[in-house]
Amino acid sequence: MTQNILVAYGTTNGSTRRIAETVAGVLRERGMAARALPAAEVTSLERYDAVVVGGGLYGGRWHRDCRAFVRRHARALAAMPVWFFSSGPLDATASRREIPPVRGVRRAMERLGVTEHVTFGGCLEEGATGFIARRIVSSGKGGDFRDFARIEAWAAGIGTALETGRRAG
Ligand SMILES: Cc1cc2nc3c(=O)[nH]c(=O)nc-3n(C[C@H](O)[C@H](O)[C@H](O)COP(=O)(O)O)c2cc1C
Repeated sequence: MTQNILVAYGTTNGSTRRIAETVAGVLRERGMAARALPAAEVTSLERYDAVVVGGGLYGGRWHRDCRAFVRRHARALAAMPVWFFSSGPLDATASRREIPPVRGVRRAMERLGVTEHVTFGGCLEEGATGFIARRIVSSGKGGDFRDFARIEAWAAGIGTALETGRRAG
């Protein structure tokens, strides 16, 4: 039977949305019914067989929509395969080495029994909202550090795990 996969994302400036859509696209190519939705809009996980949750990092914390999502759906998430990702660093470090989850994400992983997490490079460009965001961009420290080859490879690993029935978390 076709597996239904949710990729729930938390974003302020939109860049995590494209990461989530890329993950969903890779899973769809493998014949799964995968959709990327804003985490804040998801009211029930009943129809899903597995969930990927990903959010931008702000001030050392996961996006608030992701934090609220994992609180709201804790019971369902604890009983299904779940993958987490974060997007943040505005330099190439995320492509060069594994960046561990921030403390809040690590705690959520422990609570829910989630074992899989990856940090992807972030993106902050012209038009970003907020004073600090605009300061980062105007001082030349913004840019797009999303590594789509790495994102696609990570998503392919999820696809393989789901196809072979290996459980994450
Ligand atoms: C105010 C502010 C705080 C940020 N804090 C962090 C942080 O603590 N860690 C990090 O890796 N990236 C941080 N970033 C970079 C963002 O995580 C990055 O731009 C990310 O791609 C944003 O995702 P979004 O476009 O989906 O909102 C920060 C950016 C801003 C504007």
